[in-house]
Amino acid sequence: MRTAFRIATLTIEIIERRKISFDKAFNLAVKKVEKIELSQAYRLAWRALTKYMLSDNIIMTTLGKDIPLRRKCAFRVGFFLVYYEHLHPEVLKRISGGLLPGRFIDILKRIRKEDEYSLLPEGPEDLVLAIKYSHPRWLVHKLKLAYGGDLINILKANEKRVIWLRVNKFKADEDRVEKLLDKENVKFTKDKDIPGLYRLDESEVVPSNLEVVRRNLAIIQDKASILVVYALRPEKHDLILDACAAPGMKTLLILEMLNRSGRIVALDISRKRTISMKYLLKKYYGDATNVDILTTDSSNISFLKKFDKALVDAPCTNSGAINSDPALRIILRDTTDVDIKRLKSIQTRILTNSLKYSDKYVIYSTCSIIPDECEDIIRHIKNLRYKIDKIELEVGSTGYGFDDVAKKSVRLLPIHGTAGFFISKVRP
Ligand SMILES: C[S@@+](CC[C@H](N)C(=O)[O-])C[C@H]1O[C@@H](n2cnc3c(N)ncnc32)[C@H](O)[C@@H]1O
Repeated sequence: MRTAFRIATLTIEIIERRKISFDKAFNLAVKKVEKIELSQAYRLAWRALTKYMLSDNIIMTTLGKDIPLRRKCAFRVGFFLVYYEHLHPEVLKRISGGLLPGRFIDILKRIRKEDEYSLLPEGPEDLVLAIKYSHPRWLVHKLKLAYGGDLINILKANEKRVIWLRVNKFKADEDRVEKLLDKENVKFTKDKDIPGLYRLDESEVVPSNLEVVRRNLAIIQDKASILVVYALRPEKHDLILDACAAPGMKTLLILEMLNRSGRIVALDISRKRTISMKYLLKKYYGDATNVDILTTDSSNISFLKKFDKALVDAPCTNSGAINSDPALRIILRDTTDVDIKRLKSIQTRILTNSLKYSDKYVIYSTCSIIPDECEDIIRHIKNLRYKIDKIELEVGSTGYGFDDVAKKSVRLLPIHGTAGFFISKVRP
């Protein structure tokens, strides 16, 4: 437990300092310590993040604001262990290896039997819920406006870690992947909608350490992300524009569905991410001769001919991905109205430009659960006289609101057991 405690503390500290994803932070933390207790550490850091704002609130009201970051992160992990896992504070003192001095342990001794409500501040509902469920307050406010009665279910659903694994059909089949998962004693459920897709029920696995993942036989990809490609419906010989393609998870699945026919033009503005994309495609697919990867701005690129279909998997807040990446609880804390405005502008510009070069339709998607970057964008596009078609998927729910845009779009929410995604279909 001593090592798990250190890795968990370091992981959260790295997220605070570098604002990177949970898995990246965990892998960096692991490099700095002995490689034992990994799955315990992964789960501990993950779970501690789901309660970190409550922990910070306790420490701030008792010790004030000026706590060194490492101690604050250690307290987050310690708070989780004592308050939710009922570890005795004296045991925590021993395993914390000096990271938690006596006054921190004393706080935990005092509060460990208290009711959760007595640890929460008094104040407006969105503030109290933000702290109770460790979500940025601005997000709780927006979710309350959009989902009303479902708000608490969404916040609670984000506490459940969701891992989806799909068979990489270029390298393996379902039988082989299932046998290897069984060999590692990983509990999984076969998805009823998508063949070759599994939901992992084992809460302690470190996804990147699974043998099927290390050998590239299966890919960690959320069901909602897969459904975006299903909505695109790639067909043999299609010429497809993937306007925001990196790191290439959806491009890879489009390639699979095209079955070595057709062509994809995959664009992304980030050079670093297009480089990772080339690496990812090579790793899972081998030599892909029917995909052209370009580093460019999709909001103003022009083409000489039109594509059959386009996918705009737009840059967004990632507010729908909290249940797969709890680092977002910290990363999104400082998001402002200005950031959302900037994202809305780029989302609209990429979508309108892609519509210019698409013959049949454009699928617009984001892993966001707020209407600003989803329904609102499509409503604006509709006002520009583009047609909205119904998404033909038998999953999820309709969009936020009661209009045509809401009825024809699909929303996957954490309460559906997937990441939060929005999918809409626009005709030029
Ligand atoms: C949600 S991610 C795409 C994920 C990708 N479709 C996948 O499934 O792996 C959004 C991407 O849009 C890219 N992006 C942001 N602004 C862009 C622009 N103006 N033109 C092209 N790509 C852009 C970002 O670099 C980021 O890689």
